[in-house]
Amino acid sequence: MFLLPTAVSLVLQLSLLALPITSQHCHLNQSRRQSAQQPFDPSVPSPSVSPITNGSSTSFTHPQPSSTPFVYGRDKIRGVNLGGWFVLEPWITPSIFENTGNDNIVDEYTFGQMQNYQTALGVLQNHWQTWIVEDDFRQMEAVGLNHVRIPLGYWSIPLTSNDTQLSTSVSPYISGAWPYFLQALSWAKSYSFNVIVDIHGAPGSQNGYDNSGQRTSSPMWAYNQSDVQKTIDCVMFLVKNAGDKIDILEVMNEPAGFLGDSFTSVLRQYYIDSYNSIRMAVGNSTGVMFSDGFLGLDSWADSFNPPQYNSTSFDIHMYQIFSDEELARSFDQHISYACNLSQSYANFESSNTWTVVGEWSNALNDCAMWLNGRGVGARWEGQWGGASGQQVFGSCEGYTGNYSNFSQTYKSQMREYFEVQVEVGESVQGWVFWAWKTESADEWSYSKGIAGGWIPSNPTERLYPNICS
Ligand SMILES: *[C@@H]1O[C@H](CO)[C@@H](O)[C@H](O)[C@H]1NC(C)=O
Ligand SMILES: *[C@@H]1O[C@H](CO)[C@@H](O)[C@H](O)[C@H]1NC(C)=O
Ligand SMILES: *[C@@H]1O[C@H](CO)[C@@H](O)[C@H](O)[C@H]1NC(C)=O
Ligand SMILES: *[C@@H]1O[C@H](CO)[C@@H](O)[C@H](O)[C@H]1NC(C)=O
Ligand SMILES: *[C@@H]1O[C@H](CO)[C@@H](O)[C@H](O)[C@H]1NC(C)=O
Ligand SMILES: *[C@@H]1O[C@H](CO)[C@@H](O)[C@H](O)[C@H]1NC(C)=O
Ligand SMILES: *[C@@H]1O[C@H](CO)[C@@H](O)[C@H](O)[C@H]1NC(C)=O
Ligand SMILES: *[C@@H]1O[C@H](CO)[C@@H](O)[C@H](O)[C@H]1NC(C)=O
Ligand SMILES: *[C@@H]1O[C@H](CO)[C@@H](O)[C@H](O)[C@H]1NC(C)=O
Repeated sequence: MFLLPTAVSLVLQLSLLALPITSQHCHLNQSRRQSAQQPFDPSVPSPSVSPITNGSSTSFTHPQPSSTPFVYGRDKIRGVNLGGWFVLEPWITPSIFENTGNDNIVDEYTFGQMQNYQTALGVLQNHWQTWIVEDDFRQMEAVGLNHVRIPLGYWSIPLTSNDTQLSTSVSPYISGAWPYFLQALSWAKSYSFNVIVDIHGAPGSQNGYDNSGQRTSSPMWAYNQSDVQKTIDCVMFLVKNAGDKIDILEVMNEPAGFLGDSFTSVLRQYYIDSYNSIRMAVGNSTGVMFSDGFLGLDSWADSFNPPQYNSTSFDIHMYQIFSDEELARSFDQHISYACNLSQSYANFESSNTWTVVGEWSNALNDCAMWLNGRGVGARWEGQWGGASGQQVFGSCEGYTGNYSNFSQTYKSQMREYFEVQVEVGESVQGWVFWAWKTESADEWSYSKGIAGGWIPSNPTERLYPNICS
């Protein structure tokens, strides 16, 4: 996560790297160009997955995969991110970080670096086994979702010396999530989900956010050719070893395009090279998705379009809370701003390639504890970066935490905000909500939204129809 790339917020993003780093986290018709594009190949649901070497111990009966497979370009993507599972984020699972007793453990990198290995491994294994279980897939299916996006760190991809000419060490990261990841792919197919896998944490870090695995003011990825090559090796491993169970591979999440030309030129070449590698390895069957990298979709106009490129898509993230400028918007302005995005996304899609809103949420502020990084406060309360004299928008009380404290007005606003963003996503190929589950920031949780009534148990239901007209 997360920021909308307005010119102002790009400047904010730049200055942000110098500060204690923060986490960053209308209907139109299909164009002719879109309908001419070949769907990703969803016709081979692959229910058979080798049994997990370790994972859930619960026994279960697999349901029958749906007989009506999802068709890209025709059906709308309605999904959730399985955030905080294979890439830890302090604000999603604060207890995991609090339990270390060490305030300097702020991300998955330091989680591995500053603890006894066996202790850290044990906590991670328990987390991998319990954060998302089969019943989550059952619930997600029951509430009308058809996609999951699974953020994955490169350190969980078990390259051997046959897969890379570079070191296979991921130290200080702790590897071992791969079997749990394979189990997730298996559950996804059992419950008729299509799967988007994204490389959320790249070697060296692609953005410096804790959600890349490493919170750092100097993300190295683009400046170290070996990191880039290793990421390609990871992409190859993924499609060769699990490509038949992955519908779309997003080759990198939120690369820091705001770092300038030296970064973006490497990124663009990486996109081309990873696309070509995937096509060489597995043909056209796996969709390939690209993040706009905070540059705005228009920066990628004419870059990965059919017919030269097959089954490509762009991922745009839609948040309005990571700058004072955005927080200053009234509720009605948040709605109107979202409505406006619809047109720009659809315009991009109609003359380029498929577009998906791959991350968005109901959050109307950045109040969730540690959302901006462990120990970093909320801009909403003027606490971000710890500096004094920042704009204060209000108190966070009643806006985060247990939803038993949320007012009816707040819940109604989140319901309306949910619906408008669903409309925006469905003006293009669809949407993937961030996230299915959080430990305590209920406003970010799809499952808590359903329990609390501000997310409908059928995402096509509308209390606010024609909201943008
Ligand atoms: C768009 O779709 C609607 C509903 O399917 C249809 O009535 C309308 O003619 C279409 N417009 C264009 C420009 O294709
Ligand atoms: C697998 O899980 C069992 C029971 O939870 C545990 O005893 C065993 O050590 C685990 N094995 C591996 C390889 O993680
Ligand atoms: C590499 O591939 C060779 C030939 O297939 C195989 O014998 C060897 O075990 C592999 N090495 C690793 C580390 O997987
Ligand atoms: C460059 O990347 C390689 C491969 O990920 C890594 O082993 C090496 O430590 C990196 N070097 C620097 C200076 O970051
Ligand atoms: C994409 O690849 C598929 C499968 O190989 C092929 O049938 C289709 O014609 C390709 N689409 C385009 C637009 O070239
Ligand atoms: C994949 O798609 C490309 C571009 O659309 C097409 O030229 C190529 O023939 C396809 N490859 C296969 C193996 O179908
Ligand atoms: C939405 O677009 C309209 C028309 O361009 C503009 O007047 C309005 O200010 C925009 N709304 C927001 C919140 O940016
Ligand atoms: C709920 O609100 C009360 C008082 O307003 C506060 O003391 C409590 O900490 C809040 N609980 C949560 C989970 O946010
Ligand atoms: C949320 O608050 C309700 C009512 O106060 C309580 O029953 C529930 O256990 C709380 N949930 C969590 C996760 O703390």
